Amino acid sequence: MLPVRPAFVAGNWKMNGALAANAALLGKLRMELPECRVAEVAVLPPFPYLDQTARLLSGSTISLGAQDVSRHAPGAYTGEVAAAMLVDLGCRYVLVGHSERRALHGETDAIVAEKFGAAWAAGMTPILCLGETLEERQADATLDVVFRQLEAALALHGVAAFANAVLAYEPVWAIGTGLSATPEAAQAVHQALRQRVAKDDLAVAADLRIIYGGSVRADNAAALFAQPDIDGALVGGAALDADAFLAICRAVNP
Ligand code: 13P
Repeated sequence: MLPVRPAFVAGNWKMNGALAANAALLGKLRMELPECRVAEVAVLPPFPYLDQTARLLSGSTISLGAQDVSRHAPGAYTGEVAAAMLVDLGCRYVLVGHSERRALHGETDAIVAEKFGAAWAAGMTPILCLGETLEERQADATLDVVFRQLEAALALHGVAAFANAVLAYEPVWAIGTGLSATPEAAQAVHQALRQRVAKDDLAVAADLRIIYGGSVRADNAAALFAQPDIDGALVGGAALDADAFLAICRAVNP
């Protein structure tokens, strides 16, 4: 019997936000989240709003994270943001390998693995995003794809690094489409991922949080969270609406 892993809900704002709208959203989350009893909640605003968000969340139970990180140490990398800078601003989490970064910014498995290492070495918890496209799913290649994406980071850093990491399974075809994976389909991938990590280290696999992302909403969250290997959610669109995000957090412990 696997130990119960603390549930984790993270809100990825993507390239959305504005000072006034952020303040309203964070104010409401801060006020209403304590009653949700979800183990951990994080918000992941765009880089320019990290400082504002850190200040508005100060003293709250909500963690701060970023959506991306440079694989390089500080230096001549115009436009990049180093892991140490994110730590400086209070980030505890950072996404690496979100499918939008992979598809739109040319991030390969090797680059993502380096970013994972940069985040980890700086003391943050990387949230490693994995997921197949519709074509890959239709070709029955889902597990090949997510294993390949996982393997790059496992090979470079070893399974011990996953003691302080989160996996986010986000099928590309479910992101922003309203077409969430069914709880059973997502569970099958989560279970396979956990079994793959267990081959290298049983204890790390048992404690590893594997969260699901892709059209998570208030009305489908509880069924996803009821699956034994779904430990929370990576929320996109619904993370911009305080009531929708709070409803997803409440679904962790209905
Ligand atoms: P949606 O919840 O909008 O589908 O986005 C999911 C996602 O990409 C979170 O990182």
